[in-house]
Amino acid sequence: MHRRAVLGSTLALAACGPKARSQTVPAGLPPLRAVAPFRIGACVQALQLDDPTFAALLIQQASQITPEWQMKMEYIVQPDGTFRFDAPDRIAAFARANGLGLLGHTLIWYAQVPDAFAKLDERRVSFEQAYRSYILAVAGRYRGQVVGWDVVNEAVAEDGDGWRSSLWSERLGDFEHIALAYRTAREADADAPLLLNDYNLDYYPKKRATFLKLAERLLASGAPLTGLGTQMHVAADIAPGKITTMIRELAGLGLPIHISELDVSLTRAENKFLSRAELERRQTAVYAEAAEAFMALPAAQRFAFTLWGLRDGDSWLKKENAADAPAVFDDAGRPKAGAAALVRAFGG
Ligand code: XIL
Repeated sequence: MHRRAVLGSTLALAACGPKARSQTVPAGLPPLRAVAPFRIGACVQALQLDDPTFAALLIQQASQITPEWQMKMEYIVQPDGTFRFDAPDRIAAFARANGLGLLGHTLIWYAQVPDAFAKLDERRVSFEQAYRSYILAVAGRYRGQVVGWDVVNEAVAEDGDGWRSSLWSERLGDFEHIALAYRTAREADADAPLLLNDYNLDYYPKKRATFLKLAERLLASGAPLTGLGTQMHVAADIAPGKITTMIRELAGLGLPIHISELDVSLTRAENKFLSRAELERRQTAVYAEAAEAFMALPAAQRFAFTLWGLRDGDSWLKKENAADAPAVFDDAGRPKAGAAALVRAFGG
């Protein structure tokens, strides 16, 4: 009995050791946007903006918003080929009213090929005309209102072996449809930063190399690419150093870098032997590494730092696994250790 009691108290002490202490959040943590020397972004859905609790946290913490899905073709393009803009307009109006930057996301994505495009009647309008009209309509509508556009999303094949094929590449050419998207977005908006956005650039060096090659080729062709987005949907057990290496290599091209969709999943961790507490500790360390690597960039290359889901309950990853808790604010909007790590790294 005695022995067990001693053991028990040792364990309790261990739980309060340095590792556990790093998980505590100082009271009165300053808001992220107040300490960061660049814009802090968060993804939003139009409906969330009507929730005063969400809106208050958003305005307190963030200085930029990305529509989570309502500025994509899946929302804008109707089955008959017409466009709807009510939700994206609402998000844009909210950004304007609250002095937040608006990041347009996303014009062209291999994963979004509406029926209206697949079944286009080309006796009336050519595929290329329809493609260009879409970009001109959407980027033109928000001209002067955006801090940037993710023009093409996820263009690179997962294994890094070239680019993804899609309806766009089949009809317009694998490189040409990408270059055309940038040229057309520039036609629609003379000033907006135009970004190329992708994921798993941290995990897969080959994919990152191909991503950089694509960026270089776009620049060489005269396409108006002005920034790189790295989504960073990562898991808590990503090997330390991978994120730092990625950020450094991406920055080598000299363009501004957007950490565009950061979340750190607990349940996507491949190492199934790690306890929940260890995963949470690593999650905090991953947020810290991302923030430190970003801070290490020259100021002119820090485009923005965007969280994909402000609170755990807002995260798309919850649909995949309800036990996940990938964000830096908990369901009640309280800062987690990840938020404290960001504030610390940002100099707060
Ligand atoms: C996701 C959204 O979070 C979901 O709500 C939506 O249903 C599907 O898209 N890469 C991207 C984002 O560029 O647009 C995706 O967002 C996540 C992966």
